[in-house]
Amino acid sequence: MNRPAIAIAALGVLAGSPAPAAGDAAAGKRNVDTWCAGCHQTDEDDKKAGLIDTPSFADIANRRTQEVVRAFLAKPHPPQPQFRLTPKDIDDLAAFIGGLKK
Ligand code: HEC
Repeated sequence: MNRPAIAIAALGVLAGSPAPAAGDAAAGKRNVDTWCAGCHQTDEDDKKAGLIDTPSFADIANRRTQEVVRAFLAKPHPPQPQFRLTPKDIDDLAAFIGGLKK
C-alpha cells in the first residue's frame, strides 16, 4: 500500500470511532432528582446517605465509563423500579453521572 492510501485508511478509522456522549447533563440532573435520588446519593450537595448497598453516583463515576453506565441503564436494575428511559434519557443520565468523575 502506498502512503496516501494508508493515510486515507487511518482517516476512515478516526471518522468511524464512536462519537463522545452527547448527553445533556442538566437534563440528566432533573431526571436524577425525580427518579434516582430515593436510593442513590446523587451528588456532593446530596447529604443523605442513600440506601444501604447503593453506590453513590460519584463513586459510580469514578469506577465506570459513561459507556458502561449507558449499557447498565438500558436494563432495569432491581430494586430500581422499571423506568422507561429513552435513549436520550440514558445519554443525559450518563452525562450527568460522568460529570461527577474526579
Ligand atoms: C429503588 C432503589 C434504586 C433506584 C430508584 C435507582 N437505583 Fe441505581 N442502583 C440501586 C442499587 C441497590 C444498585 C446496586 C446494585 C446493582 O448494581 O444492581 C444500583 C446500581 C446502579 C448503577 C450501577 C452501579 C455500578 O456499580 O456499576 C447505576 C449506573 C445506577 N444504579 C444508576 C441509577 C440511575 C441513573 C437511577 C435513576 C434513573 C437509579 N439508579 C435509580 C438502587 C436504585
